Amino acid sequence: MKNSFVALKNKKRFTYNDAESAQNYIRYVESADGKVERRAITQAVFSHLPENKEGYILDAACGTGWLTRSMAEKYAKVLGFDSSVPLLESAKKNALENCSFIEADVLKEIPTLDRPYDSTVFCLAAHDVKNPKEAYFQLEKVLKDDGKMIVVVANPYYSFPVGIWKRGILGKILGKGKTRLLLNPYNDFARGGREFHWKGSIPSYFHTLPETLNDALESGFQLEKMEEIRIDDGSHATGRKWQLHNYPMLLMLVFRKEKK
Ligand SMILES: C[S@@+](CC[C@H](N)C(=O)[O-])C[C@H]1O[C@@H](n2cnc3c(N)ncnc32)[C@H](O)[C@@H]1O
Repeated sequence: MKNSFVALKNKKRFTYNDAESAQNYIRYVESADGKVERRAITQAVFSHLPENKEGYILDAACGTGWLTRSMAEKYAKVLGFDSSVPLLESAKKNALENCSFIEADVLKEIPTLDRPYDSTVFCLAAHDVKNPKEAYFQLEKVLKDDGKMIVVVANPYYSFPVGIWKRGILGKILGKGKTRLLLNPYNDFARGGREFHWKGSIPSYFHTLPETLNDALESGFQLEKMEEIRIDDGSHATGRKWQLHNYPMLLMLVFRKEKK
């Protein structure tokens, strides 16, 4: 099946470098839903970061730098890089001195500090690249032996474009009420044209979970742990908190660089 999102392909192709798309992303990150998501991810990621505060940490494709800045509160040096200039400008605001931000491409040479990173984080950005294996390969090169690569992905079985949150007819008319998760046939995306579009038409790529795992394994990593990022406290409200409480919308994959 040709998925309907691919139909948007012929529209103008926005990127996070376009001012409006960057602003939309910043707005989401700062929204109530964004805050819920950030809290859940922060908790999950921090539970796998090194105990040693002298650690050097890399935040690859850091976006607005919310996670980078938070990691800089604990660790000696943290570097965030991204290909979006407007997002980096926003990231630099209120950054601590041990936290730097640089424009770079995860598929090319990744910026380094004066020694290899102890851990790298690649959060919600694997879907932004067509060939994430190339990104894992680059991330492996800047990580110390035995260091961790923490990858957070939208769960391909439940998240967009397979999963779409929709209100029923009454909810649409009234403009309120819970949204329900509607699942499109997964294999249409796994088999079909991989490109899909978020709101604002930013092109993204559908990667299956086995592909993500195998790409990282083939880039010199071993899988240490895979976790669903869920929210424990129940919520009767609608929105991201409700979604994350009821479905594993986000997955965290913790890899360890193989010793050479
Ligand atoms: C969905 S955002 C996630 C940002 C951030 N990690 C977060 O969790 O909020 C995806 C990010 O990947 C960045 N990105 C996309 N392709 C990239 C590339 N080839 N190299 C570096 N950054 C890239 C985008 O600019 C954007 O900031």
